[in-house]
Amino acid sequence: MRSLLFVPAHDARKLAKGLDCGADALIIDLEDAVPEAHKAQARGRCAEFVSAHRARLPLIVRVNALDTGLLLDDLAAVVRAQPFGIMLPKCTSGRDVALVDSYLAALEARDGVPRGTLRILPIVTESAAALFEMSSYAQAGPRLHAMMWGGEDLAADVGTVANRRADGRYTAPYELARSLTLLGATGAQVPAIDAVYTNFRDPEGLKAESADAVRDGFSAKAAIHPDQVGPINAAFTPSPADVAWATRVIAAFSATPEKGALVLDGKMLDRPHHRSAQRVLARAATPTPDLS
Ligand code: COA
Ligand code: MG
Repeated sequence: MRSLLFVPAHDARKLAKGLDCGADALIIDLEDAVPEAHKAQARGRCAEFVSAHRARLPLIVRVNALDTGLLLDDLAAVVRAQPFGIMLPKCTSGRDVALVDSYLAALEARDGVPRGTLRILPIVTESAAALFEMSSYAQAGPRLHAMMWGGEDLAADVGTVANRRADGRYTAPYELARSLTLLGATGAQVPAIDAVYTNFRDPEGLKAESADAVRDGFSAKAAIHPDQVGPINAAFTPSPADVAWATRVIAAFSATPEKGALVLDGKMLDRPHHRSAQRVLARAATPTPDLS
């Protein structure tokens, strides 16, 4: 999965548009993009949409946070539609994931959905306290599918208005949140998803931020507008040169299995390079996951 497009659940026009814009997955939002007055209607619309289109691409439902009092109603409405997964906003630690796992298990039993079907994708940087719990996701259980970060709610928690410098780069606290997410996800052995780029009329800025995310080891980036999907997919698709390099690295290791380190084009290669090459080929082969 390279691009995940947020679509507000109460907006039928955007839901329809989201299906055809090339996104690898949709995140159907019941949380911040849906006004309070539309929450109940949005749940029903979301469940219908997921039932109708779940075989086409991964559909992930962003539910309301644990402390809102809305989460159980959200889950009760959508589990039977069998979305690919649940995005849990304002997640404070791996223990929140474990709690939502138990809710999902109960609802899967109620609805005759095989246990463990729904995955959980938490947003793990939406409060300052959550940053200190990043290692807890390694014990969050098998539903943990990927971890995402975001800078907007963290800024609200810290009480700052701006989270970027004049040149568009994140300030230090948000760089830290981004890095902790990447390392926490690596520790938990799941992919890391980069935050949305909110300035959707700035393709150059999006391109630069996507390139940084690829370089640092993120697997995907979330989008808020269909125009962002193409540039994100392009950035997260390994280039022909990357694939050629990875193929040669794998071939070199296969040719000399007795060697731990070897030389290619005058440069030393060892185990980490072999693993990087395998990752490049895996990303090139499967941009979208198996929906079965
Ligand atoms: N998903 C699907 N379609 C979308 C879309 C999205 N996220 N954002 C815009 N579109 C559609 C519009 O409906 C419009 O379609 P139309 O020409 O058929 O009417 C087209 O793309 C062009 O949209 P545009 O006029 O450029 O933007 P907008 O003013 O309609 O919407 C936003 C701007 C920011 C309100 C909108 O992109 C949006 O709602 N994004 C998601 C917000 C969200 O979910 N936030 C929570 C996570 S951070
Ligand atoms: Mg938010």
